[in-house]
Amino acid sequence: MEDVQRIDPWSSEQSTDYQRLIQKFGLGSIDLSLIPNPSMLHRRGIIFAHRDFDLILNSIKNNENFGVLTGLMPSGKMHLGHSMVIQQVKWFQQHGGDINVAVADLEALATRSKSLEGGRKTAIEDYIINYAALGLRPETTNVYFQSKRSEVQRLAFTLGRKTNLSELESIYGFQGDTNLAHVQSPLIQAGDITHPQLEEFGGLRPVVVPVGVDQDPHLRLTRGLVSKTNWFNLKDQKNGGLIIALSIQPENEKIFGISNNGKLVLEDRKIIFEKIKNCILKLGYADILSNLKHGTITIPGATSSDKYKLKIELLTLERSLGGMGLLPPCSTYHRFVVGMTGDKMSSSKPETTIFMDDSIEIMSRKVKRAHSGGQSTVEEHRRLGGDCSKDVAFQYLQFFFESDDTELEKIRKNYESGRILAGEMKQLCIDKATIWLNDISEKRDEWSGRLDEFLANDSI
Ligand code: TRP
Repeated sequence: MEDVQRIDPWSSEQSTDYQRLIQKFGLGSIDLSLIPNPSMLHRRGIIFAHRDFDLILNSIKNNENFGVLTGLMPSGKMHLGHSMVIQQVKWFQQHGGDINVAVADLEALATRSKSLEGGRKTAIEDYIINYAALGLRPETTNVYFQSKRSEVQRLAFTLGRKTNLSELESIYGFQGDTNLAHVQSPLIQAGDITHPQLEEFGGLRPVVVPVGVDQDPHLRLTRGLVSKTNWFNLKDQKNGGLIIALSIQPENEKIFGISNNGKLVLEDRKIIFEKIKNCILKLGYADILSNLKHGTITIPGATSSDKYKLKIELLTLERSLGGMGLLPPCSTYHRFVVGMTGDKMSSSKPETTIFMDDSIEIMSRKVKRAHSGGQSTVEEHRRLGGDCSKDVAFQYLQFFFESDDTELEKIRKNYESGRILAGEMKQLCIDKATIWLNDISEKRDEWSGRLDEFLANDSI
């Protein structure tokens, strides 16, 4: 039977069957032992999957340049759920990444009918101020608006040539009555994701997009689009070695030795092959098998670990010949925290989440009413213990408020053994959340009036 599970990035309904998502969409699992100075979200398994994250880890290890791209939809208010991505962005920033933040004002207009002016105000006054308060540094952060960055729009348009309505229908479930601004928004997002690789925004280098798993369809789309633009396909061979195949497209036909009437021009094909061979020689391989007619070059001795270096050489060559020369984006995915009521968290239902600027009173009320994993009587609770996997207060400590792993484990054990009661767990959460929210609020005051420091030149 056909598996119709789909992720809808515009719905607040999300699948939380993470193992299934990993399998269905071919995500990689996170190996904590490979992550330097893992953050709280890494250590606790909250960041649970990735695509090509190893490229970023290598860049960090070798002190090489990498970019980070994240985006915000300026439609609702910023809440705790949104802060998770910023914690990750901060970690990348501390490890050398430069940060680009897309304000998805076009997407908010297309999908939430939010005006561009309104979106700008919400983005700066509610999101960027909290990003600053959470500790993002302005020196290596660039906040821009989709509506104002023509390079992003141009990329969206250019990449749009490599897809069609049927593909967008199957990824997103778009239908005949879907408005066309909405149809364009994933292409704009593909523009967001790829543009940090343009020369003027940092150039060819890996770019990572940390997101909630609801955004993976955009990454799948973008990776597919990017690979369709690539002039040279690089693949592992079944019996070892790597193979490079020319990907003939209207923009490279001439250079690849295809004449107007579709015939092979051997002289031109030889020239492009020489250039490819130079790329391979740079990696130290002399043993090369070329098939001019098929447009393939095999390097029997090359290993998978040479693949990335060779890929970069080939993309550089592609750029020098007039191609886009894009690497597919890397990504990491985090789990969603449960809403306060035990259902999904959503800005449109204030009782399901804590907003960054909730007062202590409002936050306390929400925590007190939150879904608990306690037993129905004290006697039973002492005997059977509480269930942390159902307890919202515990999970909020785990995702946000208790940064000390040992302390968190102590709380977990004491709850599971019945020593801590459900009401006491809520009080622990309220106490920690009070410190957290007060701190953020103080930092917001420090940053107000200085947010221009985060804005890119084209967004002032
Ligand atoms: N679509 C994202 C959201 O709904 C916002 C966004 C736009 C984004 N461009 C992006 C996220 C690029 C990550 C990367 O929140």
